[in-house]
Formats: sequence, C-alpha cells, structure tokens
Amino acid sequence: MKKRAWAEPFKIKMVELLKTTTPAERKVALEESGYNTFLLKSDDVYIDLLTDSGTNAMSDYQWAGMIVGDEAYAGSANFYNLERNVQKYYGYKYLVPTHQGRGAEHLLSRILIKPGDIVPGNMYFTTTRAHQELMGATFVDIIVDEAHDSESDLPFKGNIDLGKLEALIDKVGAKRIPYVCVAATVNMAGGQPISMANIKMVSELCRHHKIKVMLDATRAIENAYFIKTKESGFAEKSIHEILFEFCSYSDGCTMSGKKDLLVNIGGFLALNDWEIFEEARNMVVLYEGLHTYGGLAGRDMEAMSRGMEEAVQFEHIQARIGQVAYVGENLERLGIPIVRPIGGHAIFLDARRFLPHLKQTDFPAQALAAWLYLEAGIRTMERGIVSAGRNKDTGENHAPKLELVRLTFPRRVYTQAHCDVTIEAVETLYQDRNSLKGLRMIYEPKYLRFFQARFKPL
Ligand code: F0G
Repeated sequence: MKKRAWAEPFKIKMVELLKTTTPAERKVALEESGYNTFLLKSDDVYIDLLTDSGTNAMSDYQWAGMIVGDEAYAGSANFYNLERNVQKYYGYKYLVPTHQGRGAEHLLSRILIKPGDIVPGNMYFTTTRAHQELMGATFVDIIVDEAHDSESDLPFKGNIDLGKLEALIDKVGAKRIPYVCVAATVNMAGGQPISMANIKMVSELCRHHKIKVMLDATRAIENAYFIKTKESGFAEKSIHEILFEFCSYSDGCTMSGKKDLLVNIGGFLALNDWEIFEEARNMVVLYEGLHTYGGLAGRDMEAMSRGMEEAVQFEHIQARIGQVAYVGENLERLGIPIVRPIGGHAIFLDARRFLPHLKQTDFPAQALAAWLYLEAGIRTMERGIVSAGRNKDTGENHAPKLELVRLTFPRRVYTQAHCDVTIEAVETLYQDRNSLKGLRMIYEPKYLRFFQARFKPL
C-alpha cells in the first residue's frame, strides 16, 4: 500500500461499535433483502458504503450548535445563521430551507416547469429527474460524451457539452427550456467535477438566450477542490473563493446538506431572483414547513450552518477526497476496473468490465453489490440499469452505458484501516469474478425502483 502522506485531520471523541457477521448470516440477510442493498438492515452491515448522504460524522462544534437550537416556530435564530452563511459561502441572496435536497428539487420544479418543457442537464440524478418529470418536463442529457466512458481520463468529465446545449436550444427553442440543471460534482458519472471555465460558458450562453442556470450544489465544495487542484489559475485561491465564484454563474441552487455540509439531515433552495424566491417561500409552507424552518428543527439548521464553515476548510476537503483517492489508487494498482479519473465522493467499480460474462439485463452492478456484501459485509449501491429506470413515455428500460457499483465514503466516519479492509474484499471478489452470477428482477416498484426492487440469483 502507498504510504500515507497525511492522517485524518481530526481525532475521535466518541465511537460507535461495529457489528461483524458470519457468511451464513449474511447469506440469510441477503435473501431476505431481495439482493437489494437498500433493503438490508443496517445492523447486518459491517462497513456501510451505501451512500455519503446523511451518514457524515458531525464535529463537537456542530454538536454544540445542536444544543443552542432555537426551536421557535417562526424566525429561529438558527435560520438567520444559516442564511448568513449561505450568503457568505455560496453567494445567493435568498434562502428557503427544506428537509433535504429533493424537497428543494420539488419546489424548484413546481415553480419553473410547465408541461412539455425540456430540462437539459449534465447527466441525470434520480430524484432530480423524477421531480422534473412529475411536473411534465423531459430531461435531456447534455454532458460531454466522455462522461459515459469509464476509461476516459478527461479531468473535468462533468462538463456540459456546449455544442449539445446549443443544438438543443436551436431545436426546441429557448422558451421551452426553463433552466439548465447543472450538477457539481456529477454523482452518476462517478463524482466527476465541472470546470470553472465550463460553467462560465454555460452561463454566458444561457444568459444570451434568457435561460436560467440552476445548480445542484450538493457536492459543489468537492467540485471546488478539483478546480483548485486541476484547473489552471486556481491553485492559490481558497475553496471559499472558488465556491463563491462558481455559484456566481448560476441563478440559484438546490442543495442536499446531507453531503458536503457534514450533517445527517437538511437541505435548501437558494435563489437570486426575488420573484422565484417569493413563490418558493409561499410554497414551502405547504410542502415542508414555515419559510424559516422548511421541515428542519432549529438545531438541524445550526448544524448545517456550522458544517458549512468546516466543509470549506482545505484540510478537511483534502483529507475527504484523499481518502477516496487512496482506495481508488489501490484498486487500480490491483488491476480492478474503476471509473477514471477518481471522483469526489466515491469509487465506482465498472461492473461491465468486472463481470464481462454478464449481460446488462443480468443486472451486473446489482449483482456485484450483492456479492460484495456477502463477501465482507460491505454495503454499496448499484448505479446502472436498475437506477436508470424506465423511459417515462415508452416504458422501455433506460440502458445506461455506465453499469457501476458505488463505494461511497461518508465524511469523517471510517479510518484508513477500514479502507484497507474494503480494498482487500474487492480484490478477493475480483479474483473469483468468473464464478459470480447475475440476477433477475422479481419485483419492480413504479417510482425510483432501485430503492425497493427485489431480485433472485440466476
Ligand atoms: N442531488 C444529488 C447530486 C444527489 O446526490 C442527491 C442525493 C440529491 C440531489 C438529493 O438529495 O437525498 O437530500 O434528497 N443523493 C444521495 C446519494 C441519495 O446516495 O447519492 P436528498
């Protein structure tokens, strides 16, 4: 293993004991959960790499903030702290808190989309696209082609292909495009970043056509780290400065605080346009809660506000992305196929190359996630044909080029030794790969099927 150049930039004050299971126990758990890692009980999991969402460890500073939660129904002090920090770090004028990211996606989609609209974006995200479609829009993927190729080494694989965007505007007309949905980083592409130069050009093109740019800022701080370390001209800038400039090329953002912002729950919609804000502030009362809490407790808003202050510290973000890189580099050294370049929040195993003997309809990524759990009690997530779902008009399966298993790292939760155990387990599975079977789906829910679908081995 590569010698580490640094250690975690924190020490541990409270621990949560882990439970280990036997292979026989895991076999039962896997059968009971229909070979779907979302349906496993957390008690049966040893190292939980299902998601980095809401699974972060909060600091003593954040926990102290929970104690000073102001639980007033209206005008909580913590709302104003959060608002001030959103203005300071992200630069948007107006804030509407929501219970999590999809609450903000719901409000934004409801306000800006009318039936028949087109929403272009740099690859879909499950909940984001689902809300756009529920409001009658069609999502069109305009990410650069390289994003769909797990072996392309382009540094900013999250970039928008401006040619695709212009062609789409020419084809459908700017009036049918309420906004361009820009994600930073791009989760489904492998946590790939988008460059400052790219968002700047997208913003110029959109302004010219009077189309809004709405950012999914869920992992924009991780994106800022990649800009600082990979894009020329940004090495000397702080994460805060980069984040602020990046957001300035958009008209607002939806945010899941459960990722970058180091909390277990929380999100927001942030806007620069007073009229959209006014509408959102009215609507949030119906769906989330009063506009100064949006479905969150005062203490949750305080934890998110303080998490923001910690998340933009370079030592934090360097260690966070460094941990992911450590796992990725070691897997690559073992010849295991992963999405290149290594992204921000996760390592994505390329199930097509890992299990070339399986067809996409044998659900290779779903199967690989199941077998990794059986091998070592490590829980991961399918990001392939199951997650992609069906075309909303034809009912056909979307067949994404990327068939991936995501090993997602919660922030500040696992140590380097947990990473070593993970690397070893994937290596063992890779050695046995020819014996690994695919799955067939025996139950398919209507919405976001990956959460609750059930399978059986072939
Ligand atoms: N946008 C992105 C890019 C996300 O990754 C997520 C959540 C959301 C929006 C929705 O936010 O969960 O707070 O409602 N991603 C999680 C994941 C679920 O595991 O990747 P939410």
